[in-house]
Amino acid sequence: MVSSITVKAPSSTANLGPGFDVFGLAIDAFFDEITLTKIKKGIRIITDEDIPTNPENNTAGLVVKNMKKKFRVNNGIEIKIKKGIPAGFGMGSSAGSAAAAAVAFDKLFKLKLDKNSLVEFAGNGEKASAGTIHYDNVAASVLGGFVIVKTNPLNVIKINPPTDLRMCIAVPKITVPKKKTKVARGAIPKNVNLNDSVSNLSNAALIVVGFMKKDSELIGKSIVDSIVEPARQHMIPGFVKVKSNALKAGAYGVTISGAGPSVIAFSKNSFDLNKISSAMSRGFKSKNIDCQTIICKPSKGAIHQKK
Ligand code: HSE
Repeated sequence: MVSSITVKAPSSTANLGPGFDVFGLAIDAFFDEITLTKIKKGIRIITDEDIPTNPENNTAGLVVKNMKKKFRVNNGIEIKIKKGIPAGFGMGSSAGSAAAAAVAFDKLFKLKLDKNSLVEFAGNGEKASAGTIHYDNVAASVLGGFVIVKTNPLNVIKINPPTDLRMCIAVPKITVPKKKTKVARGAIPKNVNLNDSVSNLSNAALIVVGFMKKDSELIGKSIVDSIVEPARQHMIPGFVKVKSNALKAGAYGVTISGAGPSVIAFSKNSFDLNKISSAMSRGFKSKNIDCQTIICKPSKGAIHQKK
């Protein structure tokens, strides 16, 4: 009888410019690993990281708590968390743990849930850190590839990305506010100008076509957001310079990764990706900020690690 399951889930970038709360892309920059083990009773979180260990306030803990209740599981569960995805930088850190926990729970108790249910349970867990539910990051981390999220009722569509798509990510070494996603969501206007809405809609449609036609150039050049990026960019010192530097260095498109403060440039494997990354670093340096740069590609979703 299986008593322990380990699942590894990738980082992700949400929005991809115009697709606020709708688009997500799993990326192989970082991974979180969750091991669930059956124990006699209760929920016990074990981790070396500086994260909450009360299940209510921990993304993976909340997923397990909700699923345990929903499926009337009598066992206790130990949750071992190994975090690789940096928290608070727009790389889907809470989503990675939530996705891994949902997939691990499904496997451990042989529930065979469909993809929408897994994403829904993982999204509910994300509430522990983001305050509100949005499914873009968790859908990407659970399913991998590029995802389109529709809510009420939840329906997630996955498209396999082009194999030559590459991203350069610059993660600035700045202090982020505690409830960063909540703060960043508060910066978005409540009402949207019609021209901006038309612009975002056309770019979002082209991004979907780009993924369907496996056209990295069309994807990258459609990463243009007239609504959320302008409202949030003031929260990222040096953003304008980082973006213009990356475009000058050859990137197709540049935007904020999720709620930031990481900045993501879209490109393809035949381009000089180190040049784009250095240009982004110089952009942050213009504001005396160091950053970590990562060149990455789309990732598969959460996978069971057979030990
Ligand atoms: N779509 C969400 C936002 C992602 O931009 O607020 C947050 O990780």
